Amino acid sequence: MDAIATPPARLVDRFEREVSYLRLSVTDRCDFRCVYCMAEDMTFLPREQVLSLEELFSVGSAFTELGVRKIRITGGEPLIRRNIMSLFQRLGQLPGLEQLALTTNGSQLTTMAAPLRDAGVNRINVSLDSLDPARFHRITRTGDLSKVLSGIESAVDAGFDSVKINAVILKGRNEDEIIDLVAYARNTGVDLCFIEEMPLGIIDEHDRALTYCSSDEIYDIVHGEYSLQPEEDTRGADTGGPARYYGMADSGSRIGFISPHSHNFCHLCNRVRLTAEGRLLLCLGNEHSADLKQVLRSNPDDTDALKHAIVAAMDLKPERHHFDLSAAPDIVRFMNMTGG
Ligand code: GTP
Ligand code: 5AD
Ligand code: SF4
Repeated sequence: MDAIATPPARLVDRFEREVSYLRLSVTDRCDFRCVYCMAEDMTFLPREQVLSLEELFSVGSAFTELGVRKIRITGGEPLIRRNIMSLFQRLGQLPGLEQLALTTNGSQLTTMAAPLRDAGVNRINVSLDSLDPARFHRITRTGDLSKVLSGIESAVDAGFDSVKINAVILKGRNEDEIIDLVAYARNTGVDLCFIEEMPLGIIDEHDRALTYCSSDEIYDIVHGEYSLQPEEDTRGADTGGPARYYGMADSGSRIGFISPHSHNFCHLCNRVRLTAEGRLLLCLGNEHSADLKQVLRSNPDDTDALKHAIVAAMDLKPERHHFDLSAAPDIVRFMNMTGG
């Protein structure tokens, strides 16, 4: 048997980063239209171009056989895909998978949180950019804040290992809610991550250079009210995510900062992403990709072909992303193709 016939048990890229985390987008559709994520008028993929649940499971299974220990399901909004619970149930039983996570807008969680927990999901991230109903509706263009807040409560009650809130902070929009969001996280007993907006997809709703709010500015605002203590090694070791986390002496909630502009984290990157149409993206901020849908559809049931394509794709993983908010976006793909 030659080396190519036996895929390795670990995925390692050219910069010796081990890829142990797969983010799987199960749909590009969403019931919200967040202003930083999408244009108001979006065209979504025709259904036949989206991977079937069976194909998504095959990809998840192949990755775990190649050493991936964490899978995060993303969208668009993953919970609006029909029969999605069956995918969670199957992935939840994959040997070797240590963490099954979900990123959601929270709109369906009131009914779905408990079944997701039962299916084996152990971490859940929910987007929440405002606690004011009218403003929440403006930012999401369609969202109902009360549904999301009750969804977050259901997630807390369901007993996930972690419930995390994500807030994209835009100057002039919601930076005046930073302290309120921290207070909400503390009262609800969840973690909270502040995110710098990334220039993915062409939008005309706001000028990203003007609304940019750096993690350092947000940190100063939070630290003015609550004393933040840096946590050691929470990146990679704990969540495998890009956030730098801080604790507070009088609360179990952690405050995280995801800073793609101001504090580059690419040297610690351990993840790859599959878009809803089966394109394996090696970096969120680059277009290098491998077409796994083509591999899946031209070699049905051939796990080895799939694994070889995945292994070969590791050489395409770039060293880092380069974002420039002052120029037109290099990446015309909107965030709903990858779910972050
Ligand atoms: P954990 O897995 O729990 O650490 O979650 P996460 O924070 O990585 O995932 P989530 O889906 O909640 O994403 C939060 C934000 O982090 C989104 O805006 C993502 O786009 C961003 N993000 C996650 N991974 C990367 C990455 O590799 N590069 C960049 N530039 N941004 C990322
Ligand atoms: N920049 C930064 N974060 C974004 N998200 C969506 N679009 C962007 C963007 N352009 C966030 C959402 C969600 C997470 C998956 O990605 O708020 O919490
Ligand atoms: Fe939907 Fe999430 Fe994009 Fe908002 S950020 S439009 S909730 S996919």
